[in-house]
Amino acid sequence: MMHPHVEKILLDEKQINERVKQLGRQITQDYQGESILMVGILKGAMIFLADLVRNIDIPTYFDFMAVSSYGSGTVSSGVVRILKDLDKSIEGKHVIIVEDIVDTGLTLQYLLENMKSRGPATLKVCTLLDKPDRRKVEVPIDYNGFSIPDEFVVGYGLDYNERYRNLPYIAVLKQEIYKG
Ligand code: XMP
Ligand code: MG
Repeated sequence: MMHPHVEKILLDEKQINERVKQLGRQITQDYQGESILMVGILKGAMIFLADLVRNIDIPTYFDFMAVSSYGSGTVSSGVVRILKDLDKSIEGKHVIIVEDIVDTGLTLQYLLENMKSRGPATLKVCTLLDKPDRRKVEVPIDYNGFSIPDEFVVGYGLDYNERYRNLPYIAVLKQEIYKG
């Protein structure tokens, strides 16, 4: 069922499920014999992470970080503030940053620098969505669910003003909703 505020569904539940399964299998293969620490970036990556880890078949731990870019609305400023830091040290661990979406790349660039300085054994990035058209800085992405066009999307963890995170698909809202 489509929410009345939704203009179009970009990725439906089936497409997301299949891709998340593939990513889980690939991570399982790539880290055979190791254990991994998935660092979910709150709140957007919460649902993706929850589904992804259930498709990973090696010892998997998780921790979370919450960050906010200064400024509001749909534009990223690049200045990042930590709202919630990791609970534990990541030194010597195989860390995978789990993001909902990489847009300009500024948030991820900050996260990578920040986490590298804490001395993980390895550091990789897994994002559900990538909007390559909007990139301002080059960032390495090891696992990408889907590349999408430059449109503001909601659902499956992603929000507009904190709403619509619970939609089970990725969608674009009607113009009048974004105007408020
Ligand atoms: P940057 O530009 O730093 O942005 O790569 C990453 C963060 O910006 C938010 N973002 C979105 N959130 N729908 C959303 O709900 C979108 O289409 C979108 N594009 C960027 C998101 O918080 C992400 O972590
Ligand atoms: Mg958001």
